[in-house]
Amino acid sequence: MLTSIKTNNFAGDKSKELAMMYFRVAIILFGAQLLMGLIAAFQFIVPGFLFELFDFSVARTVHINALVVWMLYAMIGSVYFMLPDETGIETVGIGIGKLAFWVLTAAVTVVVLVYIFVQIGAGTEASIWFINEGREYLEAPRWADIGIVVVVLTFYANVFLTYMKGEKTGLMTVMVANLLAVSGLYLAGMFFTDNISMDQYWWWWVIHLWVEATWEVFVGTLAAFALIRLIGAKREVVEMWLWIEVLMLFGSGVLGLGHHYFWIGTPEYWWEIGALFSALEPVPLVAMFVHVLYDWGKEQGIAKGKGIEGSVLTNGPAMAWIVMNAFGNFLGAGIWGFFHTLPQVNIYTHGTQFTAAHGHLAFFGAYATILVGMMYIGLQSAYGIKVLKANFKSKMGITLISFGVMGMTIALTVAGYEQVLVERAELGGGWEAFFTAQNLPWYIQGQLWRMIMGVVTFIGFIYLVWDLLTIGNTQKTLQEQA
Ligand code: HEM
Ligand code: HEM
Ligand SMILES: [Fe+2]
Repeated sequence: MLTSIKTNNFAGDKSKELAMMYFRVAIILFGAQLLMGLIAAFQFIVPGFLFELFDFSVARTVHINALVVWMLYAMIGSVYFMLPDETGIETVGIGIGKLAFWVLTAAVTVVVLVYIFVQIGAGTEASIWFINEGREYLEAPRWADIGIVVVVLTFYANVFLTYMKGEKTGLMTVMVANLLAVSGLYLAGMFFTDNISMDQYWWWWVIHLWVEATWEVFVGTLAAFALIRLIGAKREVVEMWLWIEVLMLFGSGVLGLGHHYFWIGTPEYWWEIGALFSALEPVPLVAMFVHVLYDWGKEQGIAKGKGIEGSVLTNGPAMAWIVMNAFGNFLGAGIWGFFHTLPQVNIYTHGTQFTAAHGHLAFFGAYATILVGMMYIGLQSAYGIKVLKANFKSKMGITLISFGVMGMTIALTVAGYEQVLVERAELGGGWEAFFTAQNLPWYIQGQLWRMIMGVVTFIGFIYLVWDLLTIGNTQKTLQEQA
């Protein structure tokens, strides 16, 4: 991936070059995310570890903010990658897009360094502007927020102007409309109020309406794009699925927001609204699952019928990650989400390790997977490889990472279950109950297993990076020899 920008086969396609630049930063931030996760996980087991040097709060902040930022980078990269293919023209204003990339990357670096070097202090008007805005996942200080808005406007201008000038596929129409919603929602997380209920009320507009509505539509379009490219799926078929999913996702995801309004001081009618609509959310996720597997099976069947030997697949690792996405999204968001979405259940599970279990599997399954898949598609194109085959490293990467994340999820689910039984059901919640539950064997062992599975995930990540750095050159050479 390192050489893929200089020695690429894009033939001057600046949009695809920019996509690779975004992918590179994304993978670096993914690595940083995992390292921070390991530190935070170890602090659960040895609470004094790096105390006052690198506190848990800092490791956690960087862990989850890096998560959101690397995903946004990979998402922007994916859009720049598909834009010329879908519209049939060069991306309009790509020079400014490139400049925006550097501005954004410089800003992200400064923000992370400030998190690390200014760990504690009073929360004042100045700290909101320059240090940390204090909203979980979106902690960037206000100066960076404003910078992000400017950069995103530039990105959106690139996308919108190219769309208007070029061919308008159904897929791009969904993408352009959805990106407006993704960007617009960010604004809801930008204004400060010292009423914590109001703050949470708006904060969820970003977090929930991103991950359970707009980002899901985004991965729907990526899956559609990837299936056409990787297995030659029929555009009419994948686009039809895409429209159905968009309808369903917006139908359930928007009012599903109510499942975060059960206990924050919002009116009680949210119990019913949140329960009903969020319980419907797994439906579109099942549709997405069926969509990917159905198209795959269908195209394979057609190829077999025509007597084509083997598979019709043009990119093994990318397809593996996209199939993992279909499973992961369904399991992490659909199943683990549904578990705790009814108020009758959530009153016990709210804010326990159960929530963290769901958070890990959902973010990984629904987003990390398909974005890594897009990186493989980018690489294949950069090196001009006709059929990219998975090798030992690609397989180790996907297997260890998925196994590790699933392992962490199960470990945290066990810990969360114990919290529900002891801290909530038996002891009725509260300060004492919280610590009693944390000191029981099921909780401690759960944290130990999460640490072990975190290490497995990290080893998988090393394989993944190693593969991304080498697979292009190796297979290009093989292809030339053949
Ligand atoms: C890919 C999609 C999803 C992602 C990435 C995701 C991620 C997350 C994360 C990170 C949290 C914790 C937020 C915090 O820090 O407080 C959370 C909370 C929650 N999620 Fe999801 N989620 C997804 C989909 C779903 C779905 C489809 C459902 C329901 C069917 C669901 C139900 C919930 C509930 C009820 C909570 C609140 C938990 C609590 O009260 O502690 N999620 N989600
Ligand atoms: C090396 C592997 C990883 C380790 C050891 C790890 C560890 C941790 C720890 C210790 C926390 C803080 C939990 C708490 O406050 O109770 C956390 C939070 C979180 N991590 Fe990870 N993590 C890892 C990988 C990942 C991956 C791959 C993802 C998603 C793609 C992810 C997403 C999250 C999310 C969304 C939260 C916030 C959860 C919540 O507040 O409910 N992590 N992680
Ligand atoms: Fe939600």
